Amino acid sequence: MVEQAILLTDYEEAYRCFHEAHAEEQTFGALRDKEYARLDAGGHIYLDYTGGGLYAQTQLDEHFALLKNGVLGNPHSINPSSSEATRLVEQCRNDILSYFNTSSKDYVVIFTQNASGALKLVAESYPFCPEGRYLLSFDNHNSVLGIREYARTKGARLDYVPLDLPDLNLNEAELDRLLAQESRGGFKLFAYPAQSNFSGVKHSLDYIARAQAQGWDVFLDAAAFVPTNRLDLSKYQPDFVGVSFYKMFGYPTGIGCLLARRDSLKKLKRPWFAGGTITLASVMGQRHWLAEGSEGFEDGTVNYLMIPAVSIGLKHLQSIGIETISAHVGRLGAWLLGELESLKHSNGHPLIRLYGPADMAKRGATFAMNFYQADDTQIDHRVIELEASKLGISLRTGCFCNPGSGESAFGFDQVEIDTCFAQPKPRLTIEDLRVCIDGKSSGAVRVSLGIASHFKDVYAFAQFAKQFLS
Ligand SMILES: Cc1ncc(COP(=O)(O)O)c(C=O)c1O
Repeated sequence: MVEQAILLTDYEEAYRCFHEAHAEEQTFGALRDKEYARLDAGGHIYLDYTGGGLYAQTQLDEHFALLKNGVLGNPHSINPSSSEATRLVEQCRNDILSYFNTSSKDYVVIFTQNASGALKLVAESYPFCPEGRYLLSFDNHNSVLGIREYARTKGARLDYVPLDLPDLNLNEAELDRLLAQESRGGFKLFAYPAQSNFSGVKHSLDYIARAQAQGWDVFLDAAAFVPTNRLDLSKYQPDFVGVSFYKMFGYPTGIGCLLARRDSLKKLKRPWFAGGTITLASVMGQRHWLAEGSEGFEDGTVNYLMIPAVSIGLKHLQSIGIETISAHVGRLGAWLLGELESLKHSNGHPLIRLYGPADMAKRGATFAMNFYQADDTQIDHRVIELEASKLGISLRTGCFCNPGSGESAFGFDQVEIDTCFAQPKPRLTIEDLRVCIDGKSSGAVRVSLGIASHFKDVYAFAQFAKQFLS
C-alpha cells in the first residue's frame, strides 16, 4: 500500500525512543512477528480489539491438529467419540474456572454463544417481580440494557446510576443511595461493566461486595475487561459474570460463557426446557425436571468442536501473562493519549476531544473521541472511518452499542430525547436522533488496543490524525 507509507513518516526515530523507554516491548514485537504476522503482511493497522480480539497462529495450528487427528461426536451419548468430546468440554470448563482462579465448588461455567447469551440467560430467568428491582449504570452495553425489558414485563422497579463528567465514572454517591434504598422484599439485580466498551473506564470491582452487602445480586459484564485484565474470582465474587471468548483471544467466535455462583444459580427459573437441559420430560405426563448446574442452562448441543479451542486460547493468554498484556496496552495507550492531547490546530484549538479519563490510571486501552476543525466544528465520525479505511486502519465508529455512555458524554438532555422519541413514526433511526440533537455528537471514533498491538499501530493512528490538522 503506497498511500499507507504516509502513516510511517519518521517512524524509525519515534520507535527507537519508545523502545529505549520500554525495553519490555521487545517481547511483543517478537510475538507480533511470530503469531500475528498476517497483520503486517496485509498492511493492517488493527485498532478494534474491543470489537474483537485477534488469534495467534499457534491457536489455529493446535486446534486444527486436534480436529484433524481426533474423532469427536455429539456429547449426549457415551460412545467413544462422544466420550472424548465430553472429556474436552469438561476439561474446558475446568480450564475456565482455573483461569479465573476459582473452582467448581463456587462457580458453574455455562457455555453460551457470547456475552449477550450469558446476559440473556440471566435476564429471562431472574425472578424479577413488582417488589424487586433492576439497577444498572448509564454505562452499559445494549445487551445489559436489554435486561430491563424482562424486568419491566415482570413489574420490577428500574433505576440507573448516572455518570460523572468528564471522566464518565459511576456517580458513587448516587450508586450508594440507590443500593441502600429500603427493599420491598423482592430480588434485586445490579449490573455494570468492569470496563466500559465506550470510554475504557475501569469501574471499581469493589462495587460487587458493596452491593451484595445490601442484598443485591450482581451481574458483572466482564466482556471488555478480561481481554487485558485479570479477573480473580477468589477475590471478587459477583453472582454472575458474562464473557465472550473471541474478545479475549480472537478464536473461536460463537462461544462465551456465564460464570454463575452456585448458590446464585439456584435463584434462576428457566422459562422453558430444551434438548439436553432436563433429567426427564414426558408428553403424556405433561411434566419435566430440569437438570442441575450448567446442564439445565445449555440448550441443545454445545459447540463441542470449538470449545476445545477455548482451552487453547486460555493457554495462549497464560503463556504471555495477562498482567504482562495489561502493562503492554497501558504503555501504548499512555503514549497515544499523550500524542492525541498534543494535536492542536495552528490557532491552538485542539483537534481531538477524548471522552473519559485523560490518563491511564483508571482506564483500559479503549479510547473514544471526536475530531474537530480549527473553528471547533466537528468532523463527522463517519468521515473519519472512511478515511481511516482507505489507509488500512480498522477502527470503530458510532456509539458502540452503549447508548447511555454516549448520551452522557455528548451532553444530551432529557427534553431533546423526549421530543425526539415523541415523533409519530413507526421506527426511529439514528438519522432522526441526529436531527433532534442538532449540533451535538451522535457518535464517536473508537480505537482500542490488545495483545497483538504494536507501537506501529498507535504511531500510525497518530499520523493519521495529524492529517486533519490545519
Ligand atoms: C462491555 C460489553 N458487554 C457486552 C458485549 C456483548 O458481547 P457479544 O456481542 O460478544 O455478545 C460487548 C461487545 O462489544 C461489550 O463490549
